[in-house]
Order: sequence, then C-alpha cells, then structure tokens
Amino acid sequence: MTRVFAAPALLCATIAFSSFAVAEDFDPDLVKKGARTYDNNCAQCHGDKLVNSGGAAFDLKRLRDDERPRFNNSVLNGKNAMPAWHGIIKDPDLDALWAYIRTNAYP
Ligand code: HEC
Repeated sequence: MTRVFAAPALLCATIAFSSFAVAEDFDPDLVKKGARTYDNNCAQCHGDKLVNSGGAAFDLKRLRDDERPRFNNSVLNGKNAMPAWHGIIKDPDLDALWAYIRTNAYP
C-alpha cells in the first residue's frame, strides 16, 4: 500500500525543495567570508545580518539573482548616501558579499 504513495510524495518533495532553493549554490566558506565583510563594512547601515532597520538604506535581501551588475555598480561607485567602495572592496570580497546576500535573499 505505502508503495503507491511513495513516488508522488517524493516528486512533491523534490518540487517543493527546488522552488525554495536559490538558483546558485555558493561555497559555504565564501558565504562566511561575505558575512564577515558585510559585518565590517555594511551592517552599520544595512542592518545586522542583512535585516534592514527601515532607514534610508536599501534592503539587500530584495536583490534578485539577475541584479549582479547593479550590485557591482552600486557598491563600487556608490549611490546617493551609499559610499563608493572602489579600491576598498576588491573583486573577491565582492563575490563573497554577493554569495552572502544571495544565500539570504527573499525567495
Ligand atoms: C553609510 C551607510 C552605508 C554603508 C556603510 C553601506 N551602504 Fe549600501 N546603501 C546605503 C544607502 C543609504 C542606500 C540607498 C541609496 C539610494 O538608493 O539612495 C544603499 C544602497 C545600497 C545598494 C542598492 C543600490 C541600488 O542599486 O539601488 C546596495 C547593493 C548596497 N547599498 C550595498 C552595500 C554594501 C555591499 C555595503 C558594504 C560594502 C554597503 N552597501 C554599505 C548606505 C550604506
């Protein structure tokens, strides 16, 4: 009897899992590095652990998968009250920050 239900249940589980998973899987070490870089440079404005405090700063969890060019441009060149990080945040840090943000982004 249980066999009849096993296959559909597995299929449902697979579908449910894939719709919650982020498009890219990031290396956990890269995500940790991104979290440190974030804590040191971004958290004071963007909120502890990416939790936006409701101030002027953008809620980084809202960044979509295809907004990497926007992310790079805003971080390196700044935007209004957001400082430019060119020369401070290097490419590997940018990758780590992106991995951290995408891993914690809204589904
Ligand atoms: C001094 C405060 C401050 C710090 C520090 C800061 N930000 Fe921001 N950030 C802002 C503000 C304010 C905005 C909203 C800018 C606007 O749209 O007017 C913003 C916006 C952004 C945006 C969205 C810009 C867009 O395209 O609309 C990104 C991405 C971002 N910040 C990333 C970061 C990252 C990554 C760090 C750390 C390296 C960081 N910020 C550090 C204040 C800050």
